[in-house]
Amino acid sequence: MKNTFRPLALVVVAAALSACSSMMQEQGPKAVAKLEPTRGNSTAGTVTFAQQGDLVQVTVQVTGLKPGQEHGFHLHEKGDCSSGDGMSTGAHFNPTGKMHGPQDAEHHAGDLPALKGDANGNATVSFTLHGVTVGSGPTDLIGRGLIVHANPDDYKTQPTGNSGARIACGVVTKA
Ligand code: CU
Ligand code: ZN
Repeated sequence: MKNTFRPLALVVVAAALSACSSMMQEQGPKAVAKLEPTRGNSTAGTVTFAQQGDLVQVTVQVTGLKPGQEHGFHLHEKGDCSSGDGMSTGAHFNPTGKMHGPQDAEHHAGDLPALKGDANGNATVSFTLHGVTVGSGPTDLIGRGLIVHANPDDYKTQPTGNSGARIACGVVTKA
């Protein structure tokens, strides 16, 4: 009897543990950034970040982009939009000393997928990030600046991606 039941019990325990750990991932720390237009611009929106295991799930709702055009999108090192042109956020967030690039190659922790405006200049997208964390360690994105640029990111030019002026700025805060 014992020997017949033991494997089943192990399966039940394993299933319960895996359900538990996926629930804990969904309840990981969260952060939010409210993007506001820099001087002379009209791009705005809300971006949320949620830790899920080793990845960070990002949801983006932005308005006021150029229709059909990509815009460079990055976390910058300082959560300071006070200069009015986004420059007070400093350089790309790069706590691990990497090159600028796309998510699927070597990249700054702060290099996000570019935002593409739809026909009305809106972007409602979600994606996952590698190399950042929410609320822990040197790669923590809380307290960083979030910037939307005027132009596409070429993912090559060092260290900026050559995406031009900073048209919206926000500070990432704990949610
Ligand atoms: Cu940038
Ligand atoms: Zn970068």
